[in-house]
Amino acid sequence: MATRRHQDQLDDRLAARLAATRALTLDLAAPLSDADATIQPHPDASPAKWHLAHTTWFFETFVLRDRVPGYELHNERWAFLFNSYYEGEGERHARPRRGMLSRPSLDEVREWRAKVDEALQGALADLSPEARKLVELGVQHEQQHQELFLTDILATFAENPVEPAYGSIEATPPRAIKPLGWIEGRDGLVEIGAQSGFAFDCERPRHRALLYPHRIADRCVTNGEWADFIADGGYSTPALWLSEGWDWVQANGVERPLYWRDDGTHFTLAGRRAIDAAAPVSHISYYEADAFARWAGARLPTEEEWEDAFASSDPTIGHQLDQAGPVLPKAGGGPFGDVWQWTQSAFLPYPGFKPEAGTVGEYNGKFMCGQFVLKGASCATPRGHSRASYRNFFPPSARWQFTGVRLARDA
Ligand SMILES: [Fe+2]
Repeated sequence: MATRRHQDQLDDRLAARLAATRALTLDLAAPLSDADATIQPHPDASPAKWHLAHTTWFFETFVLRDRVPGYELHNERWAFLFNSYYEGEGERHARPRRGMLSRPSLDEVREWRAKVDEALQGALADLSPEARKLVELGVQHEQQHQELFLTDILATFAENPVEPAYGSIEATPPRAIKPLGWIEGRDGLVEIGAQSGFAFDCERPRHRALLYPHRIADRCVTNGEWADFIADGGYSTPALWLSEGWDWVQANGVERPLYWRDDGTHFTLAGRRAIDAAAPVSHISYYEADAFARWAGARLPTEEEWEDAFASSDPTIGHQLDQAGPVLPKAGGGPFGDVWQWTQSAFLPYPGFKPEAGTVGEYNGKFMCGQFVLKGASCATPRGHSRASYRNFFPPSARWQFTGVRLARDA
């Protein structure tokens, strides 16, 4: 049992992390007008204002309403607008219609955030350990939304023909193209899954997995290599594609990564920029990653191969979001901090998986159908979310996230 002094220190740490996380979200929104923050570029993305409000709803609902006696909701009708997908919380506004919410205004959402922040900080010391765990989950949840906020603003500005810039790029020297090397993977039984510290429910329990002889690339596929794939007819050769992927290419007229233009530039959070041939390719779907791997005589790694290969890599190396400002990729080159990497593994429960109790049990478990696991972390991932056991997941056609590919091979 924690001593009083130890408990105070834990409370201080959680209070500080909560304040810093909430402040960073506001900083990320600082360059945006209400109009910027209200647009929904496509049904999978959400408006910036919605992210600011939904993360606040999460704390207000699961911590303040449920765990703090006497707390009064800021506005009872807003729960309908800002509940994302929690059936346990009842009816909600349709996801594809989130861009229709001109009210509440961005300022009203900011006022709500301030009220909820004050109430949370005031309540923290008296919360039960279970309630404090929900505050921790709320912090981790808001950090996930910080990455979504950036990918969704990129998608929003990409819709605008005058190509506005959200932020600026820090000048970095051009990267040298590193020859691709192969890491010998382990063969036999290994253990994967989270061991200690915070982890989402889907990262547990730790369990055994069987690996077969294989090798995994020591870096991600680059933009230059992707240009070679395009020049070699990668997008017009059906034999390289899964049937579903080929249908997707045809139906959507896909010819290049999402934000690439046809003149050697791509659209970024700093506006239109020249494509760096040595940087990891980003904004590709699972289908594209899989087709590229086939073209290269390789395959996608399994999530177990990826996790075992990089379990002892330092996840603090590489750019990770911890402050607003220049938000574009810095040269990392390691497994974390450039792009999320598609694996061939379906997002499924680990043996012995148990969702959290209560409505927050809907967090990950109910999405374990039709999605693939991505490992690593991207340039937009908040610091602290990089760990080998982390399981990001998206449907195979999604490519508005910072998603790339690392190859693997049977040995
Ligand atoms: Fe959420």
